Amino acid sequence: MGALALLVHLCMVDLAICSSNFTDQLALLSFKSSIKNDPNNVLSNWTKETNFCGWAGVLCRLKSLSLTYNMLEGNIPLGLRHCQRLETIFLWGNKFSGRIPEELSTLPSLSFLALGNNELIGTIPPSFGNISSLEKFGLEMNHIYGNIPTQLAQLPNLKLIDLEFNYLTGPIPPAIFNKSSMVEIDLNVNAFSGNLPTNNGIFLPNLEFLLLDYNQLTGNIPSSLSNSSKLTMLILAANLFTGPVPKHLGNLKHLERLYLLQNQLTNEPGSVELSFLTDLTNCTSLVVLEVHQNKLSGTLPNSIGNLSNSLEILKVSDNQLIGTIPKEIGSLRNLTVLSLAANNLNGNIPSTLGKIKSLQRLYLGSNLGELYAEENKLSGSIPSCIENLRGLQVMKLYHNKLTFIPSSLWNLETLRDLNLSFNSLGGSLDPHIRPSRVMEIVDLSWNQISGTIPRVIGSFQSLTSLNLSRNSFSGPIPNTMGNLITLDFLDLSHNNLSGQIPKSLEALSHIQYMNFSCNKLAGEIPNEGPFMNLTSRSFMENEALCGNPIFKVPPCASNSPKKSMIKINLRYILPIIALMLIFSIGVYIVKRNHGNNVQSQNLIDLYATTENKMISYLELRRATDDFCEANLIGVGSYGSVYKGVLSDGTIVAVKVLNLQLEEAFRSFDVECEVLRTTRHRNLIGVITTCSNPELRSLVLQYMSNGSLEMWLYSHNSCLNLLQRIGIMIDVALALEYLHYGQLEPVVHCDLKPSNVLLDEDMVAHVADFGIAKILAKNKTAIQTRTLGTIGYIAPVSIYCFHQEHNVKLR
Ligand SMILES: *[C@@H]1O[C@H](CO)[C@@H](O)[C@H](O)[C@H]1NC(C)=O
Ligand SMILES: *[C@@H]1O[C@H](CO)[C@@H](O)[C@H](O)[C@H]1NC(C)=O
Ligand SMILES: *[C@@H]1O[C@H](CO)[C@@H](O)[C@H](O)[C@H]1NC(C)=O
Ligand SMILES: *[C@@H]1O[C@H](CO)[C@@H](O)[C@H](O)[C@H]1NC(C)=O
Ligand SMILES: *[C@@H]1O[C@H](CO)[C@@H](O)[C@H](O)[C@H]1NC(C)=O
Ligand SMILES: *[C@@H]1O[C@H](CO)[C@@H](O)[C@H](O)[C@H]1NC(C)=O
Ligand SMILES: *[C@@H]1O[C@H](CO)[C@@H](O)[C@H](O)[C@H]1NC(C)=O
Ligand SMILES: *[C@@H]1O[C@H](CO)[C@@H](O)[C@H](O)[C@H]1NC(C)=O
Ligand SMILES: *[C@@H]1O[C@H](CO)[C@@H](O)[C@H](O)[C@H]1NC(C)=O
Ligand SMILES: *[C@@H]1O[C@H](CO)[C@@H](O)[C@H](O)[C@H]1NC(C)=O
Ligand SMILES: *[C@@H]1O[C@H](CO)[C@@H](O)[C@H](O)[C@H]1NC(C)=O
Ligand SMILES: *[C@@H]1O[C@H](CO)[C@@H](O)[C@H](O)[C@H]1NC(C)=O
Repeated sequence: MGALALLVHLCMVDLAICSSNFTDQLALLSFKSSIKNDPNNVLSNWTKETNFCGWAGVLCRLKSLSLTYNMLEGNIPLGLRHCQRLETIFLWGNKFSGRIPEELSTLPSLSFLALGNNELIGTIPPSFGNISSLEKFGLEMNHIYGNIPTQLAQLPNLKLIDLEFNYLTGPIPPAIFNKSSMVEIDLNVNAFSGNLPTNNGIFLPNLEFLLLDYNQLTGNIPSSLSNSSKLTMLILAANLFTGPVPKHLGNLKHLERLYLLQNQLTNEPGSVELSFLTDLTNCTSLVVLEVHQNKLSGTLPNSIGNLSNSLEILKVSDNQLIGTIPKEIGSLRNLTVLSLAANNLNGNIPSTLGKIKSLQRLYLGSNLGELYAEENKLSGSIPSCIENLRGLQVMKLYHNKLTFIPSSLWNLETLRDLNLSFNSLGGSLDPHIRPSRVMEIVDLSWNQISGTIPRVIGSFQSLTSLNLSRNSFSGPIPNTMGNLITLDFLDLSHNNLSGQIPKSLEALSHIQYMNFSCNKLAGEIPNEGPFMNLTSRSFMENEALCGNPIFKVPPCASNSPKKSMIKINLRYILPIIALMLIFSIGVYIVKRNHGNNVQSQNLIDLYATTENKMISYLELRRATDDFCEANLIGVGSYGSVYKGVLSDGTIVAVKVLNLQLEEAFRSFDVECEVLRTTRHRNLIGVITTCSNPELRSLVLQYMSNGSLEMWLYSHNSCLNLLQRIGIMIDVALALEYLHYGQLEPVVHCDLKPSNVLLDEDMVAHVADFGIAKILAKNKTAIQTRTLGTIGYIAPVSIYCFHQEHNVKLR
């Protein structure tokens, strides 16, 4: 580590003077004189008499230049061309601007040029086609336009070409696809057009990654891709590809991710089923298969159940599939996301679905289409074994012909989003359904459910949206609903509800929308709290409501209107207006910050489900042996940190908040905010968050070498000089990034050895942002940002996506 830093230093001196060694030696000797304690005598042979190139820890001859992740600005120095022995140049992740220096093409031994994630502009110099030693070329995330020069495509040893996230146009030079050396081609998110080479033109026997998504490529997907038997990732999404999914993809034995979504792919002519799924059963490593938003027709083959056991994500939605859902689908035991929505599937939901215990998201909505006859709809009851889907979080079965909700559905402890609107659900809701602590959204509207609204609904502590409109619910509105203090939307309109509107609903301080219209309600309309901002539309067409004339109802006979009403109104309305203002400013700021990433947003959608692993409370409990003492690795003022092993074997640190402390919430929110907006090699990485009313936790990278404090003060551990220098540099880099690396500086406020954690390679990561401060330019922004409760925060997937590439580049 230290040696690397020295190397970088030497290189920078070298750039300027590539001739005199004198200054270097002096600088190093002066560095030596500043070291007071060198227990292992590492520096003993740093003497004036010997050539410094032979000193311990010093390397000369500049072969490799690595300045990644800095804030370097300006043009890439032309002086580099004098360092004729350079083999690798890593300038990734700086702010270099200007053109790509053509002069680099004179470096005779250059094999790896990584200029990605800068602000370079212009075109790719054709002279780069002269660097015959070049193996890896990365220019991703710049402002490069124009074509890929054909000369570049002809480089004989090219293994990796990464040009993603630029503005490149024109056809992709065919030579790139006829190159046995090629391992990785990343041309995604550009504006390439034209067809891919026809069958004989593709010869990529060593290719592992092919990413061409988000371009305007046309024509068929060449079937000769199936000869690239080492492919692990094939992403052709969001293009204009037509024709069938090529045959023989089953040859791709190592294929893990196949994304063909958002094209215009059709079924194999003359085939009644999706035959490519049968081919894919030979891809036994497949984890993700996404072919949604195409024009695929035909039926799902029974062989769907023979797809790989490792399959986690299967998305076939938004196509023109017909027929039933094969019961064999229940064999896909490791599935977490199944989306068959927006097709023309019919028949029952197979009860075998209940076997997929890992399922977290189930989308079967809109299998209707008004053009299709009655029998083209998922019908019948939701199978009662649905309760076996222990991890299910989202269930969307709207726009079908389902007739019955089994009460076991309410046993799904993790379900938080349920949409069964627009079905034919009848019967009544079981009054003894299990209350849920995590359910946030319930939409049962546009059905024929009768009977009373169960009183237990008042125990759904996290409910934010409840839509029971357009049913036949009768009886009173349960006064327990006044406990739903998190509720934002309540729609009870178009039912047969009778009795009074419970005064308890005045407590619903969050509510933004309530609708009681078209029922048989009677009595006084409550007039405090949220009711003060409702209009007559929320109450129209009822039987005998009375109260405030602004609701266009007659005054109640017994209650004379209070004179002090206006005063009371002001007393309540003003704080509400103030709160709403603060909230809107918060939303505005959050939105504005999001807006910067428009191009990337689609990719977030595309990859979110894979990168941004959802971890349920149950999984966390299992991972940490129910937060067992033996797994406790740290206790802080705001909570505890446990070591856990996720079901896929990943070791993580789970930071659990002490919910008794109000500060703990604030600290959690600050920490989420900081970790959400910052990404750096030397900051602790967040994997995901898991929140429910009982628990708030952050799932973090596990640091196997513990804290710096332990290393400094324990008798069994000892750091050598180079490790110490390395840690110093790591911490300095982390702080520099926090202070200068982003729009709004972050001040850690609690930097100490116990908050510096070491990973297995002894790389230091700064942790514990609980009391960090975000120094926004505008003071009101600080206030609103730290006040707002942030709750579920999705780590920014786009980063994970790019990080995957950094790792490969390095
Ligand atoms: C400078 O360094 C080179 C090796 O890069 C060495 O060959 C040369 O002798 C050194 N010159 C002096 C004056 O030390
Ligand atoms: C200095 O020490 C290093 C490491 O022990 C050794 O590799 C190197 O040859 C030594 N150099 C000289 C000039 O003695
Ligand atoms: C490549 O090198 C050759 C010979 O050194 C030179 O003639 C040619 O102009 C170079 N090509 C480009 C595109 O610079
Ligand atoms: C592919 O490259 C080989 C040589 O590397 C060449 O012989 C062949 O003609 C090329 N094929 C096509 C279709 O360009
Ligand atoms: C795969 O490669 C073999 C041999 O190189 C060739 O005969 C065959 O046509 C190729 N398959 C496809 C689909 O291009
Ligand atoms: C799967 O591979 C085997 C040989 O490895 C082959 O016999 C079989 O036809 C393939 N099946 C499919 C569906 O491609
Ligand atoms: C699925 O695989 C099993 C075992 O290999 C085989 O018996 C069965 O026929 C396959 N099912 C389909 C529909 O291909
Ligand atoms: C499927 O999941 C189980 C349990 O989560 C795991 O043990 C198994 O290895 C997974 N299978 C594959 C093929 O990934
Ligand atoms: C439920 O699905 C329907 C149909 O797509 C949609 O209109 C409605 O907004 C959804 N409900 C919620 C709460 O999102
Ligand atoms: C039910 O109400 C919620 C909240 O107002 C709304 O988002 C949703 O779209 C409604 N459902 C339908 C089917 O209109
Ligand atoms: C409401 O209940 C009455 C009987 O009390 C029934 O006749 C009517 O059809 C119901 N209305 C709706 C919309 O279900
Ligand atoms: C009251 O509701 C209306 C719309 O129904 C909304 O535009 C307004 O912002 C709300 N005002 C307050 C103070 O809640």
